[in-house]
Amino acid sequence: MKIKKAVIPAAGLGTRMLPITKSMPKEMLPIVDRPVIHYVVEEAIRAGIDDILIITGKGKRAIEDYFDRSFELEYYLRERGKLRELKQVKEIGEMVDIYYVRQKRPLGLGDAILHAEKHVNGEPFAVLLGDDIIIAKKPAIGQLMKVAEEKNTPVIGVEKIPWEKVNRYGIVKAKEIEEGLYRVEDLVEKPLPREAPSNIAIIGRYILPPEIFDALRETPPGKDGEIQLTDALRLLLKDRSLLAKEVEGKRYDVGDKVGFIIANVELGLLREDIRKRILEYLKRLNREN
Ligand code: UTP
Repeated sequence: MKIKKAVIPAAGLGTRMLPITKSMPKEMLPIVDRPVIHYVVEEAIRAGIDDILIITGKGKRAIEDYFDRSFELEYYLRERGKLRELKQVKEIGEMVDIYYVRQKRPLGLGDAILHAEKHVNGEPFAVLLGDDIIIAKKPAIGQLMKVAEEKNTPVIGVEKIPWEKVNRYGIVKAKEIEEGLYRVEDLVEKPLPREAPSNIAIIGRYILPPEIFDALRETPPGKDGEIQLTDALRLLLKDRSLLAKEVEGKRYDVGDKVGFIIANVELGLLREDIRKRILEYLKRLNREN
């Protein structure tokens, strides 16, 4: 199962981050000095993907502008000799081939993915959600692509989470077949801790087969009238096997207010140019509290 294309659904309303998301896509919120979606696109590129489809929607034009060339800005920077900034800005416009399709109504992640059907054209594909930024030596989606290729089976990224948080995630019932690799037996969306089959949570990375589109069409709207990807994966399980791989790396849930702030601090600490100043500030804050 060779993966060449990635889909990034970015049409959600981002209600957990209101009110900022009233007029700004959550995918454009800054982590240090670049938007969330920049990290996600970079992860796909590092994994060798060179064709990315972003599912956008109402109020999401800033995403297209970000990845577009900006000749006016480039001219301005060149004229003023700001060559480092110029290089950075140009590189973003040349990162990769990015295509866009609009989801007209936010009817859920499953419905968003259905909009990718024409573009992926019958091939298996990668899905990366912008809610999770994963910092890893080997790009998280690349770790899944490797498994999908070796086992010729679709695979979803998972992480063991504290039991008290299972009601915020899709959870898998699964059998470990190799260290960190599971055969999925069932999936449940946001179970109560006492009803959860495990604490193995689905994170926002998937390698899906084209059969997912039929499964999505057969999936009735669930909670809030939205078509849930987890429900479609359950349908898919009836006909074929599905693997789950524990992703190695550090994950930041940037669709959540606290997760977003933690990501800014920790990713800031990874930047050589500002690391020292942030550390000094954190030490002072610690002393004062
Ligand atoms: P979430 O479940 O996090 O929904 O979507 P959301 O609306 O973005 O955020 P909250 O929970 O209200 O704060 C997971 C992913 O699916 C996309 C989102 O953009 C996000 O990347 N999505 C969700 C769509 O593309 N369309 C939808 O209709 C819903």
